[in-house]
Amino acid sequence: MLEVTNLTKAFGSGSNKLQVLKGVDMTITKGEMVALMGPSGCGKSTLLNIIGGLLSADSGEIDLEGRSYGRQKPSDVVDIRRKGVGWIFQDFHLVPSLSAKDNVAMALELCGYKSEEAEERAVAALNEVGLGDRTHHIPDQLSGGQQQRVAIARAIAGKRSILLADEPTGNLDIASGKEIMELFKRLCKDEENPISILMVTHDPDLATQADRMLLLREGKTFASDIRSAWGIEEEE
Ligand SMILES: Nc1ncnc2c1ncn2[C@@H]1O[C@H](COP(=O)(O)OP(=O)(O)O)[C@@H](O)[C@H]1O
Ligand SMILES: [Mg+2]
Repeated sequence: MLEVTNLTKAFGSGSNKLQVLKGVDMTITKGEMVALMGPSGCGKSTLLNIIGGLLSADSGEIDLEGRSYGRQKPSDVVDIRRKGVGWIFQDFHLVPSLSAKDNVAMALELCGYKSEEAEERAVAALNEVGLGDRTHHIPDQLSGGQQQRVAIARAIAGKRSILLADEPTGNLDIASGKEIMELFKRLCKDEENPISILMVTHDPDLATQADRMLLLREGKTFASDIRSAWGIEEEE
């Protein structure tokens, strides 16, 4: 589904050069939920941005369902952003003046859906995340957890194959964060249309809900269990 091979990325040049990614390899299969962990500033968002087609890598390759990219300029991977990946951010990124339905429908229209189909898909996606009775509410009238579910509806409405979630529960209380994880699991295990999720989180409890944990350290990813992710030495 997603295959990342030997991805590298540096910022700056000369003595100011910061080599953030030093050869990242990872694979995510359909229906899999993977938690990406690692210390602040280690390059998690950078990696997500490259996979999401928002930033170009210096070398290496990404294959998303047969579409190959990685080093291209963001302007050359429009189809990845419009059809391939869905984004979920810590602070939701909803348009404050638009209803839940219009937030989702607008994103679909920007991807080329006609208004009518966009609205139908928006309502279906909001039903799927349990907000069928909140479609006319604006973000201010919704709790943080509900706002994040609108953002998830927006991310899944275009039938994207992978969701990239950068600290999706960072602004939520513990109970709402758990609900979001339950929703993620349900979306990944959906029998008709399973998606994959790559999620950055600092919360070990939430990370253990994923199928698998990856640790990004010193520019590379490692399969991880919760103890090594938190730097806890193995005890005998
Ligand atoms: N556009 C940029 N220009 C220069 N440095 C950047 C840029 N984006 C990120 N960085 C640097 O790259 C490193 C990794 O950043 P980031 O991917 O945001 O880390 P994380 O998400 O793991 O906290 C940090 O040291 C950050 O300051
Ligand atoms: Mg980050």
